[in-house]
Amino acid sequence: METAQLLWMIFFVAAGLAAAALALKAFTKRPASNMRKAPAQYISISSEDNLDTFTNAYDFDWKPERELLTEIPRDVENIINSLESISPLITEISSKLNDPDINPKDISRLIITDQGLTSFILKRVNSPYYGLVQKVDNIFNAIVILGYNEIYRIVMEERTSKIGIKPSREEWIHANLTSTIAAYLASTSRIGVPGGTMVTLGMLHDIAKTVLSQSLPQPENGFSPDPRERLRQETEFYGIDHATLGGILAKRWQMPERLSNAIHRHHWPMFWPLREVGQISQDIIKELSVLSISDIAAKNFTQEISGTYIGDDYYRFIKKPPKIESILMPEITRDLVRIKHIGEIKHGNTEALGQEPAEI
Ligand SMILES: [Fe+2]
Ligand SMILES: [Fe+2]
Repeated sequence: METAQLLWMIFFVAAGLAAAALALKAFTKRPASNMRKAPAQYISISSEDNLDTFTNAYDFDWKPERELLTEIPRDVENIINSLESISPLITEISSKLNDPDINPKDISRLIITDQGLTSFILKRVNSPYYGLVQKVDNIFNAIVILGYNEIYRIVMEERTSKIGIKPSREEWIHANLTSTIAAYLASTSRIGVPGGTMVTLGMLHDIAKTVLSQSLPQPENGFSPDPRERLRQETEFYGIDHATLGGILAKRWQMPERLSNAIHRHHWPMFWPLREVGQISQDIIKELSVLSISDIAAKNFTQEISGTYIGDDYYRFIKKPPKIESILMPEITRDLVRIKHIGEIKHGNTEALGQEPAEI
């Protein structure tokens, strides 16, 4: 009897140890930190990609000029000549955010060299928008609490406002939503697109819309909500569209060529297939794909347009199914709702003030 009991005890102890060993193995196998530094999978634009599949999807009566304009209409030229150059801090932070060894100390050191910028950020972070329980009194903590991207978006807002570019409520919400979706796609699609660049492009891709709309008259019935039609209308109305003008501005501000080219070409995926755009923009095709899909997803989120809009080839390229639901995943919609709410309050929508946002 005693031997049987002893055998049972040995059996249970052995089974317990085996189970513990298995659990430990499963736990240690989780990717955790390796994931961040794993090399991104290389994607090339295959010459076997079937162009014909997408030919009809890109059959339009009007398409924008692909060459950069050599002559800018006089009234537009006067406006951009009166604009100061944007702070080089934007490009500096953007490239720092692309570094996998980024740390909050480096970013806060860059920001605190400018007193006005520092107080703008602290004021924003401590505003009721964020509902933080404890007061934040330094940039380092602000970065730790809100994350690099959120702080960097505030930096860009302050820097553009400093040179007199002040987006409307819709423009502010659109830039912040596009930037957030682009950062999310940069990290989840794992095609090796730099996150800092995507946040920058999300915020600045439509900057020339603000420049044009705050300085020049609008068409009597406003612009079409359809992005392709709007581009055509702008070209007709101003003699230049906002994407081209944005590219010219970025160039004049001495931003890296990759950024100015991506801003200039951000609507191309709506007009030409991936293969064609990729042949001319090989070095920025990943950025263009992520940016244009984020742009469309942001407009879907605010219900300005509906549907995937650009060809499946772009969605396939960033390894996402060509459905808006596969871009606007529940894990980011919470953030998007919060951004939209901040935008509403910031621009004086008192209705939004009354209702405490459930998602914040
Ligand atoms: Fe645009
Ligand atoms: Fe946009």
